[in-house]
Amino acid sequence: MAGAKLDAIKQAAPAVLPSLLQCDFGDLRTEIARLSEAGTQVLHLDVMDGHFVPNLTYGMPIVEGLRRHTDMPLDVHLMISDPLTYAKPMVDAGADLLTFHVEAVRDPLETVGQLKQLGVGVGIALNPETPIGTLSPCLGVVDMVLVMSVEAGFGGQAFNPLALDKLKAIRNEYPDLLLEIDGGIDTTTIAAARQAGCDLFVVGSAIFQQDDYTVAIGELQAVIDAADESKGKR
Ligand code: DX5
Ligand code: ZN
Repeated sequence: MAGAKLDAIKQAAPAVLPSLLQCDFGDLRTEIARLSEAGTQVLHLDVMDGHFVPNLTYGMPIVEGLRRHTDMPLDVHLMISDPLTYAKPMVDAGADLLTFHVEAVRDPLETVGQLKQLGVGVGIALNPETPIGTLSPCLGVVDMVLVMSVEAGFGGQAFNPLALDKLKAIRNEYPDLLLEIDGGIDTTTIAAARQAGCDLFVVGSAIFQQDDYTVAIGELQAVIDAADESKGKR
């Protein structure tokens, strides 16, 4: 049974989640403090194994280090070939929500079931070219769907609008399911994602390439709020 941290993630929505990939890993404590001061409520951790994606980032030691310096929920994006092997070590390190890629596993429903036994939130992610039908067996049981608007592996890529159609389709069928988008999200793309029904917006470049995180996150949140106002939603 996933706990209070998963509830905190849900209650934060609609929220901008900074993606820890392009931050200053040489001064992570300062980065976390700056993001917290900027109003961040949830952190998105991009874990890559150099096998499922052609990039290598970090593992449990960084998750454990973050856990020691923040109470913010840790939304861990597993871009790895073997999520089940590393799930428990990641939970022991402090992950609050584990999202695996449907492309990485043979039996996604079985994977969801095993991850749920760890007592954390469970998300499932799909790349832009992966058909939404691959998620069907899992949509009634996962805590979150992460719709990639770039091919997993790198920050700074261009937004792929294919993600919007997937968000709309899932939202239509599952009005209460937590939806997250990741990749190429900035002030020019975030409104369309919100209008498509997204709750959580992972942002890398549009925050970490700015000097002032408070301004960057404030601008993104303002676009979300404006999209809600125009739709008569709050
Ligand atoms: C890509 C990661 C994303 C990425 C987002 O594989 O999952 O979280 O860091 O970075 P931007 O916002 O620059 O596309
Ligand atoms: Zn990510």
